[in-house]
Amino acid sequence: MKDSYQLIAPYYNLLTKLVFGKHLREAKTCFISSLKSKKILIIGGGDGLDYQEIQSDLTGEYWELSSSMLELAKGNLQKSELHFYLGDFQRKEDMLFDEVWFHFVLDTMSDEEIEGMLNEIKAVLTDKGRLYFVDFFQPVTTKQKLLNQVMIKFFRLFASHKREDIPDYEIILKKNGWTFIEGKGFLKGWVKAQLWAKID
Ligand SMILES: C[S@@+](CC[C@H](N)C(=O)[O-])C[C@H]1O[C@@H](n2cnc3c(N)ncnc32)[C@H](O)[C@@H]1O
Repeated sequence: MKDSYQLIAPYYNLLTKLVFGKHLREAKTCFISSLKSKKILIIGGGDGLDYQEIQSDLTGEYWELSSSMLELAKGNLQKSELHFYLGDFQRKEDMLFDEVWFHFVLDTMSDEEIEGMLNEIKAVLTDKGRLYFVDFFQPVTTKQKLLNQVMIKFFRLFASHKREDIPDYEIILKKNGWTFIEGKGFLKGWVKAQLWAKID
């Protein structure tokens, strides 16, 4: 399996902190609650560094496509009760999760891949389960628009990202049987953290 993040994995977290400070980490943790009683599925968690402080309360599964990112996450989250897996999420029989976290990962996928992933996830989420989604939305200010273009080009070049645009997440989620529960904006709404539930 190709490791698209091999080059940038060691610098990824530092880079995001240099450019965005603490805002992305805040978005990834703002809806975290009662972790001890939940089984969490993390898809594309990267190096896991931003979950380090809460790791002792984390139970569930951690899936990564990049072996470099996965190895970093295993080290950063060694006090968690997470099971780490390389590759595309594979469902185990009877395994259900209370929350699925997609943090800055859906924007790396095509619309078709997002739809496929959302449908897969539906089957492993409890009826009261939540999808905790965080990502870049349309940039708002001129500076953000510029930075957005630079980021898209950077990730296409160094991490083989396919997209040249930002997905219409909310349209895709609604079309695929999800309903919006709660949201919070960061960086003037360029980044949003949202909770969604399945409706069918
Ligand atoms: C932009 S990085 C974000 C990493 C981390 N979530 C964060 O916020 O720092 C996207 C990550 O998602 C992973 N990824 C992309 N598609 C994936 C998939 N289908 N399954 C698991 N991981 C995936 C990539 O390997 C990469 O580590």
